Amino acid sequence: MTYILLSFCLLGFLQCINTKSPFVKEFQQSKKYAADERTLVQSEKNSRRYEFLNKANGATYGPTKFSHLSQEEFEKQYLSDLKPIKERQIKYLGKKTPLPKIYSSQIPQKVDWRNHSGVNYVSPIKNQNKCGGCWAFSTTETIESMYAISHNVTPPRLSVQEVIDCSVGNAGCAGGDTYTALLWLNKSQSLLVYEEEYPLTDTSDYCQLLTNSSRGVTINNFTCNSYVGVEQSMLQLLAFVGPLVVAVDATTWNHYLGGIIQYHCENKLNHAVQIVGYDLTGEIPFYIVRNSWGTDFGNNGYLYVKVGDNMCGIASEVSTVSVN
Ligand SMILES: *[C@@H]1O[C@H](CO)[C@@H](O)[C@H](O)[C@H]1NC(C)=O
Ligand SMILES: *[C@@H]1O[C@H](CO)[C@@H](O)[C@H](O)[C@H]1NC(C)=O
Ligand SMILES: *[C@@H]1O[C@H](CO)[C@@H](O)[C@H](O)[C@H]1NC(C)=O
Ligand SMILES: *[C@@H]1O[C@H](CO)[C@@H](O)[C@H](O)[C@H]1NC(C)=O
Repeated sequence: MTYILLSFCLLGFLQCINTKSPFVKEFQQSKKYAADERTLVQSEKNSRRYEFLNKANGATYGPTKFSHLSQEEFEKQYLSDLKPIKERQIKYLGKKTPLPKIYSSQIPQKVDWRNHSGVNYVSPIKNQNKCGGCWAFSTTETIESMYAISHNVTPPRLSVQEVIDCSVGNAGCAGGDTYTALLWLNKSQSLLVYEEEYPLTDTSDYCQLLTNSSRGVTINNFTCNSYVGVEQSMLQLLAFVGPLVVAVDATTWNHYLGGIIQYHCENKLNHAVQIVGYDLTGEIPFYIVRNSWGTDFGNNGYLYVKVGDNMCGIASEVSTVSVN
């Protein structure tokens, strides 16, 4: 209530303000106060939300760099940037398998491509900022990793911006999907150039395919499948092929601080990320998930998501990439 009253007051003030007047400073102070008030209202809402989210004893939720945003603002600015892809484009594999089966399959109990026998095949965490290009980030990150794995080199830094600008059928920072991006890269045989040649602007720009560039990576195949109910196959891919690109429901991720996500996640795919490994050694098996919201999010940019329940829709749309 205080907040609403204050806004009305400010609006009145705003209409009659003279920028040269000695009241400007006072006005700016009151404006700052209004901003604080707004944050306060938001944080009261949030603390009730954290309390609810933390009740379930899964991951830990609390204040993050997104806390000043309302849920609606967060979703508008950071999510829903994944274009729903037609069902027929995904192959559905297998039937529901009980979790214990995962443990008995012939795979290592722990895989982390950030330190695979002492070698790192994962490039540093990126930040999409307010560009809805999660699909381009996660796709590029996985091509970087697969190039590093197949050539046994440190992961190159490839141009996410090229994918944002050039991927036919997607909408740049306004949204897209990983399947369409991979389909375009595979069909067009476009050279994905290095980031330094085609830097990130985090906005949608005109496509500049650098035809004179000889440095870069092309892909030669990819898959896009649903592994709902057969997540042991995802673990096998992670163990024997490499990192994966997946679509997820990140609706509650704005409050994520750490721990393993086991609740509060549905199947409304609105974000895309890279999975770089898994860990089955503890009580709760989890995927190691790389996000593109900077290193000041989650566990240095990463989150952990429970294996086996299609948690956050993580098994619904899974891609592997094969690079030249
Ligand atoms: C990386 O993995 C090796 C074993 O493969 C381990 O000895 C080492 O401590 C790990 N390094 C880090 C930084 O975790
Ligand atoms: C490639 O061409 C573009 C535009 O045609 C030019 O700006 C760029 O400098 C060229 N790059 C190299 C490496 O020659
Ligand atoms: C591409 O991948 C699919 C699925 O794994 C496979 O059936 C197909 O043979 C592959 N094509 C090429 C050219 O490697
Ligand atoms: C990728 O391109 C290769 C070569 O053109 C083709 O054989 C393969 O079917 C394509 N893969 C997919 C999944 O479209």
